[in-house]
Amino acid sequence: MDQSLTGKLPGHIAIIMDGNGRWAKNRGLPRTAGHRAGANAARAIISECRRLGIGVLTLYAFSSENWNRPKMEIAALFRLLLDFAARETPGMLEKGIRLNVIGDLDGLPLPQRAALKKSMETTSRCDSMLLNLALNYGARAEIIQAVKKLMASGSRPEDVTETSLGACLYTGGMPDPDLLIRASGEQRLSNFMLYQCAYSELYFTPTLWPDFDAAELAKALEAYASRERRFGKTGEQLAQGEGHGR
Ligand code: IPE
Ligand code: IPE
Ligand code: MG
Repeated sequence: MDQSLTGKLPGHIAIIMDGNGRWAKNRGLPRTAGHRAGANAARAIISECRRLGIGVLTLYAFSSENWNRPKMEIAALFRLLLDFAARETPGMLEKGIRLNVIGDLDGLPLPQRAALKKSMETTSRCDSMLLNLALNYGARAEIIQAVKKLMASGSRPEDVTETSLGACLYTGGMPDPDLLIRASGEQRLSNFMLYQCAYSELYFTPTLWPDFDAAELAKALEAYASRERRFGKTGEQLAQGEGHGR
């Protein structure tokens, strides 16, 4: 990657890992083979983000709507998840990657829930990169649970602010994604981080997720570096050095 980009790297990258099924279909393979290849792509991208010094990486792995898929496919995805937790935790610990799950963890099957909790505990003191796995995640449900949490805490209407609501989201205390990537050519959010992506730069690529490698990531980062983030200001204001901050 071009060295000049290093100053313009996103602090938080969120990725909608889409296209595993089509990748498999193109090869005459079952969808589960696509998910396996997708998990391998995820491993490589996690390492690459860590190497580049990205602070937070959020991967959309299973949406609350994905329960609508065939039972066999869901079971295969959850087997891959168990495998991921078991195989990747030692490496994450070594590389200083802290695992965090965003989504309704309690809605996952017990073995997956237990393995993920253990992995989160094991890596809880890692501070080189935060890896958020979005599992059983839906942005609307996330906002609703945040509102419930606020109300249960006795918050009065006049106390509700972007800060207080934001703190009750699964991503409380984390920076918003600077860059949102979606693989596979679809150009929609599919109920992903609707609140947090208010000002994220969006990058859509036709590349199917299992083919998304370090070179594809570099392309996304180059596109990001060339964007002008205005946060409501005019281009002239930014040129006069009034800063990019909100
Ligand atoms: C993304 O790939 C993985 C999950 C949603 C779990 P898909 O399985 O959605 O792949 P396509 O969109 O059918 O190609
Ligand atoms: C979004 O992909 C969810 C994940 C990548 C985990 P989908 O393939 O489920 O999204 P839709 O159904 O095409 O919108
Ligand atoms: Mg899909």
